[in-house]
Amino acid sequence: MSEQSSVGDSAATQTLSAAQSRVYWDRRHATTGALASGGNIGFDEPTNAMLYAVRAARLVTALGPGTDPGAGRRVLDAGCGKGYYTRLLAEFGHRVDGIDTSAHAIGECRALAGPRQSYHVSALTDWSPPYLYDAIVSIDVLYHLMDDAEWEASIRHLATLVRLGGRIGLVDHDRDEDRVWRDYQKTRSNGRYREVLESCGFAVIGFIRNDFTDDPSGMHLAVRVS
Ligand SMILES: C[S@@+](CC[C@H](N)C(=O)[O-])C[C@H]1O[C@@H](n2cnc3c(N)ncnc32)[C@H](O)[C@@H]1O
Repeated sequence: MSEQSSVGDSAATQTLSAAQSRVYWDRRHATTGALASGGNIGFDEPTNAMLYAVRAARLVTALGPGTDPGAGRRVLDAGCGKGYYTRLLAEFGHRVDGIDTSAHAIGECRALAGPRQSYHVSALTDWSPPYLYDAIVSIDVLYHLMDDAEWEASIRHLATLVRLGGRIGLVDHDRDEDRVWRDYQKTRSNGRYREVLESCGFAVIGFIRNDFTDDPSGMHLAVRVS
């Protein structure tokens, strides 16, 4: 969930560089609670637990309930943080890779890892597995990429890792314009997501809203068609 409620004057916001952002997230993962570190830092842990539970259900909507126990789908959790959704997707029967730039978060993921999970320290743009994914999700990550070029390159790179007919789910706000909220948060418009995804051979299926309190976030869901 985005932390847009405590926004200052967006026009005057000095945004974090990519390097500063990595330091921010690694420190945040090291110093804040299991859920607040990747969820909403303004919420207590029980409220974050509710938020994560609601969004877990949205993931089922996005990816569908069906999974063949003999050959679960291969899924990438891109920007997995401490791995809440990665572990959940593995429990759903998928074979899941979790990647994140935070070494601290990936260390915690590895300590908690069960079957069908593997974790790697990697930026979205650097991840190069020797296979394609049936689905990629990136939850509350893209709106923390402050640089537009990195934001677009990340989507374009992830898109190349999805098989034909596979899905991609990218979390951001449901909004018609771009907006800087904080030094580490910039949301992009629906139109920009559609434009980039369509130019990568995806058809946009729709937007799955979190619908948790007044949360304007949700998942742009698209399927690879070419
Ligand atoms: C708000 S947290 C979300 C974590 C997780 N998806 C969740 O919902 O619990 C944002 C995560 O994105 C990671 N991140 C930021 N920029 C990244 C990048 N370029 N590549 C990979 N991970 C990145 C941060 O380290 C952080 O763990």
